[in-house]
Amino acid sequence: MTGGEDGGRSEAVRDYFSRHAADYARSESHRGGRDLDMLAGAAEPLAGAEVLDAATGTGFTAVALARRGARVTAADITPAMLEETARLAEREGVAVHLLLADVARLPVPAASFDRVVSRRAAHHFPDVEAALAEWRRVVRPGGTVVVADMSPPPAAAALLNAMERARDASHRWALTPDQWRTALVAAGYDGVAVATWSERLTLGRWLYPVADEAARRVAEDLLAGAAPAEALALGRRREADGEWSFVKQRVVARARRP
Ligand SMILES: C[S@@+](CC[C@H](N)C(=O)[O-])C[C@H]1O[C@@H](n2cnc3c(N)ncnc32)[C@H](O)[C@@H]1O
Repeated sequence: MTGGEDGGRSEAVRDYFSRHAADYARSESHRGGRDLDMLAGAAEPLAGAEVLDAATGTGFTAVALARRGARVTAADITPAMLEETARLAEREGVAVHLLLADVARLPVPAASFDRVVSRRAAHHFPDVEAALAEWRRVVRPGGTVVVADMSPPPAAAALLNAMERARDASHRWALTPDQWRTALVAAGYDGVAVATWSERLTLGRWLYPVADEAARRVAEDLLAGAAPAEALALGRRREADGEWSFVKQRVVARARRP
């Protein structure tokens, strides 16, 4: 997709992640964590399964699933991120097939995969519905789709999304858990299951792996000026050292192609 077709969003994604590929490649937060464990568990059985990791980034999820015996295709729209995936796979001694593509326009035949997974990326997609429809095409009947992403409670959605856009211009919108459920059902999946959990982050931890002081100042202003109901929904708090913190909710959603 060209920059014009999606209002320049693909260009914004490639621009941001080309500049920060090395930061993400060394991010301990992305390397693992509860969302990766839950995603991998929801995608079992993995041994011998054909898996698409949609928006693989620097490949942490792709490599983790390959280590569990999956035959992984790692797709991403940013060449610099796929280069990091190739390096990681080589270092870890696993085979991962790389695919430079938009996750909503995959150059593969229908029913190519047993699973489609995507972690910490859907909030960038210009059209989540188009991605879910494309994944329904490329996953075989009876196969599963598993998405892990940030997912605020409804009352905190506007504030959280404004903060995220301040630190990353390619951020589009993080869906709430109910919006994930609705989107998956509307895209024709069944057996939809949605799990959430939350972690408290200081602004410093939230900004990681990219230290951006301008984004920190915008986020501080947004938090300071938040309406009481929004601040409560986001768990806004001043820590003892004066730094703001808030609660980031995450979702893992699993669905089956009928
Ligand atoms: C934070 S990284 C993904 C993290 C990775 N999945 C992991 O588990 O570590 C977000 C990635 O989404 C990719 N991306 C965003 N929109 C995309 C799209 N429409 N098609 C393909 N990749 C996309 C970006 O290029 C970037 O590499």
